[in-house]
Amino acid sequence: MSSLRVLLSAEKIHARIQELGAQIDRDYPTGPVYLIGVLKGASVFMADLARAMKTPVRMEFVGIASYNGKTSSGEARLTKDLDHPIQGFDVIVVEDIVDTGITLTYFLQLLQQRKPKSLRIAALLDKPSRRLRPVHVDYVGFEVPDQFLVGYGLDYEEDYRSLPDVCILEG
Ligand code: IMP
Ligand code: MG
Repeated sequence: MSSLRVLLSAEKIHARIQELGAQIDRDYPTGPVYLIGVLKGASVFMADLARAMKTPVRMEFVGIASYNGKTSSGEARLTKDLDHPIQGFDVIVVEDIVDTGITLTYFLQLLQQRKPKSLRIAALLDKPSRRLRPVHVDYVGFEVPDQFLVGYGLDYEEDYRSLPDVCILEG
């Protein structure tokens, strides 16, 4: 039997996202900023982050397949591309969690070819102890330990995404 233990409460997440939104507003006072969310995990964070910002945003989503169950497959591929060109725009990639860094290494390389004006990363969670590729996260919500997390968009085999808290999945 697996059990859930709350690591980050909805209230704590909300407060941190308000701070991140204000920080991004200061860094991009005019906008528009292209927020590019990686489906499906980042969808919840992206919706809250966008609304925590005053700077005008445009919202795009991409699909990247890279993770099977609890272990990373070690490679990534695009399953849904952007709907619009990002050339000349300020871009922030929005992720739920950066783990091995394989997904973002692949995606950032692809985005660079589209010639954005600037390219940064916002991730609700960062698990630096698991990194296999060097990825620097510009806007981090919380640094987390090496435990499998679900909720607030994060899943285990498609379950638990709608939990309001980030929880540790044990067992
Ligand atoms: P990376 O390519 O290993 O950095 O993995 C990135 C993706 O793996 C994230 O966007 C998540 O979708 C998924 N992932 C990594 N760690 C966890 C976790 O603890 N719980 C749920 N999904 C995770
Ligand atoms: Mg993800």
